[in-house]
Amino acid sequence: MTTNESTPAARPLAGAHALLVGANGLIGNAVARLLVEAGARTTIAARDADALDALRTALLGGRPGAEVTVHAVDVRDDAAVADLVLDASGPDGLDVAVNNVGLSHRPAPLEQLDLAVIDDVLAVSLRGVLVCLRAELGAMADGGSIVNVASSAGLAAAPGMSAYVAAKHGVVGLTRTSAVDHAARGVRVNAVAPGPIESGPIMRLGAEERDHVGQHVPLRRMGSANEVAQAVVWLASPAASYITGTVLAVDGGKRAGGA
Ligand SMILES: NC(=O)c1ccc[n+]([C@@H]2O[C@H](COP(=O)([O-])OP(=O)(O)OC[C@H]3O[C@@H](n4cnc5c(N)ncnc54)[C@H](O)[C@@H]3O)[C@@H](O)[C@H]2O)c1
Repeated sequence: MTTNESTPAARPLAGAHALLVGANGLIGNAVARLLVEAGARTTIAARDADALDALRTALLGGRPGAEVTVHAVDVRDDAAVADLVLDASGPDGLDVAVNNVGLSHRPAPLEQLDLAVIDDVLAVSLRGVLVCLRAELGAMADGGSIVNVASSAGLAAAPGMSAYVAAKHGVVGLTRTSAVDHAARGVRVNAVAPGPIESGPIMRLGAEERDHVGQHVPLRRMGSANEVAQAVVWLASPAASYITGTVLAVDGGKRAGGA
């Protein structure tokens, strides 16, 4: 998709073929909603087919003309990822892809982390993302855009989170390298690096513990799924047409403050 100055700002992705991998969970749900509101023909993918169906129903409600396709996938299955990307592509390929898939682990020093846990985290959060990215790059229409959801743990140390940190640093490196490799044909590849966000495993903490996490952020709160999704969809859109290879921190100032 190329920059089109006549595209209405309210629907910057009108008609685009978009794929969101990791659509379940609050961040995934919020990205899905904003992609659909931006006018993209959106394929939502994750492991839980029932949750995807419920999300599709919610996305279509009150949005006449919205196009949402459900595709259950496990990113550890290379052939299934290839099918997914084919299914999500239009006649000219994919215009937008968002890789939000990720798996974390309980904090522990590396020597105490179970090797099976490490394998799971790397299989989903690094290799899974790499396999998605590889297939998407092969299917990307000229001028298309990919956004990977990394983490502040992809830019700095996160105590006790070695396997997750390794995976997310890998996602940041893949983002930068793919951006350079594909810039000549106008394909942009960027990442967002969320700090603590009200979504996923963090929601299993008690309210007091979550409050404590928020107080260590310069803005004195955790971020919302919607705040991450806004950054993702902006980077995916023509509004960010001269931005590639960047990692946008959505972290309430955590990185800037060295927290
Ligand atoms: N919540 C936070 O504080 C935070 C902070 C930084 C980065 N992130 C990143 O944001 C993204 C979303 O995280 P979240 O917090 O909403 O967590 P989540 O667990 O709710 O979402 C993870 C998503 O990945 C999908 N997924 C997991 N394993 C999969 C597999 N094998 N195959 C296909 N899909 C699979 C899940 O279905 C879900 O859609 C992740 O990449 C996470 O690392 C989250």
